[in-house]
Amino acid sequence: MAKLNLYNEQRFDVRPRMFGSFLEHMGTVIYTGIYEPGHPSATPEGFRGDVLQLVRDLGVKTLRYPGGNYTSSYHWEDTIGDKTTRPKRMNIAWQSLETNQFGLDEFFQWIQQAKVDNPILTVNLGTRGIDDALHELEYVNGKYDTDWANLRRQNGHAAPYGVKYWCLGNELDGPWQVASKTPEEYGLLANETAKAMKLMDPDIETILVGSSTPRLDTYPSWDFKVLMAAYDNVDYIAMHDYIDRDQSENLDQESLRASDDLPTYLARSLEFDKQIEEVETIADAVKALKHSDKTMKISFDEWNVHHFSQKKSQPWSEHNPVDWCYFNLADTLLFGSMALAILRHGDRVKLSCQALLVNTIPLILTDEGGNAWANPTYYVLQSILRNLSGTSSVVKTAMVDGKRYSTERYQNVSSVDQVVMDTGSAFVVFAVNRENESQTFSIDFPNVIKDGHMEHIVGKLEDMNTREHPETLTLQSCETTINSGSSSQNVTLSGYSWNVVTFNY
Ligand code: AHR
Repeated sequence: MAKLNLYNEQRFDVRPRMFGSFLEHMGTVIYTGIYEPGHPSATPEGFRGDVLQLVRDLGVKTLRYPGGNYTSSYHWEDTIGDKTTRPKRMNIAWQSLETNQFGLDEFFQWIQQAKVDNPILTVNLGTRGIDDALHELEYVNGKYDTDWANLRRQNGHAAPYGVKYWCLGNELDGPWQVASKTPEEYGLLANETAKAMKLMDPDIETILVGSSTPRLDTYPSWDFKVLMAAYDNVDYIAMHDYIDRDQSENLDQESLRASDDLPTYLARSLEFDKQIEEVETIADAVKALKHSDKTMKISFDEWNVHHFSQKKSQPWSEHNPVDWCYFNLADTLLFGSMALAILRHGDRVKLSCQALLVNTIPLILTDEGGNAWANPTYYVLQSILRNLSGTSSVVKTAMVDGKRYSTERYQNVSSVDQVVMDTGSAFVVFAVNRENESQTFSIDFPNVIKDGHMEHIVGKLEDMNTREHPETLTLQSCETTINSGSSSQNVTLSGYSWNVVTFNY
């Protein structure tokens, strides 16, 4: 039988803030997603109550806002003050009309109600620069008797919001980005912006734009160059990546649908492991070249599977749908493996944001005036977040004699993808079974196990949570045998499944 070896001494801490999500002024994420004053569940502020409840149940603590591509041309000051006088603008990143009825102060009210305590704000380093970033920082965090801080007070928000994490722009290496830059231009601007922002507020941490995707041919030299320019003034390098079923290895190639079979698709999370390790290597090379004592942290602040859209785009409408998709079980298993790749690198990836929280490529789906429900990927993230606390750590593991498979694109892929977490009172095994047949493996824990339980997501590969059948794929309790009073345990995973097995000690 396969055996999962646990290296109990080799572990690192992981905290709830590590797995976050993302709200962007894109598609129907904000308008009719989280904000819909006419909705039957609306709060007095116009927030959708049904969505707030789903977000609270998810347990997410970190949220990035307000973009994304949107930020590279937005004016944050359009979004504050009296709603009746806020300007309506063209959102050129996503071809929609932006009413600015939901803005910076509404975001802080919303996260309070959603029980999110760790916002990440992105400043505009596309069409704007240092001054704009400083003004926004002063409005948000300013504690002195100064103009922008006083404007926040005048707008009814006496206390500074105390935002710690600031993204220095978004995807400025991407040709699609409004005001994209060369690494030399961006590195200089990001370094000077971070320096000035830290002079204003030394408590903040800054996130440098890394490559938007490893599929760009500027990857990873972009990361090297911008880190060389800004290493001393930044705390994180950002990573982004989305995986489509039929995606080629390079942005210039045709899609690969014909050869991208299910075993290949389910193995594509290996690209996350590889990308994280490459970015670590680049960052450590810069650390050595600069004789620095600082180890650069990683913020994987956009990641997800991607799927074709169920709704047609309506350019230049007030909430132009962009994407809006269902995920099936196959997508959910890949999503689970992507989350495990992030978790197993939690010694360096200290922040991550699944993109996006509501609508487009979402955890939560909404119909205007109608219901809100969850894609099955929601339950994967929820099951990880439920086990992250102030005492959680990831324990290193190795599967011995487990089944493996190879495809044209990936060799020696483990049929079971897993990570083991110690919560302080339980070992929790998170595992994806990438095979149709069930898989069994044994584990010897360092502690005697008292009791335990198991939950999983199973179904047909093409199953989805539709508006007609919103709970086809959820986390279900399932049978497992716990050897109470013993440290030796066996785990059996159903075919094609996401699993969470808890062993209390
Ligand atoms: O998440 C959607 C978009 O994808 C973001 O705006 C952008 O940063 C990325 O390309």
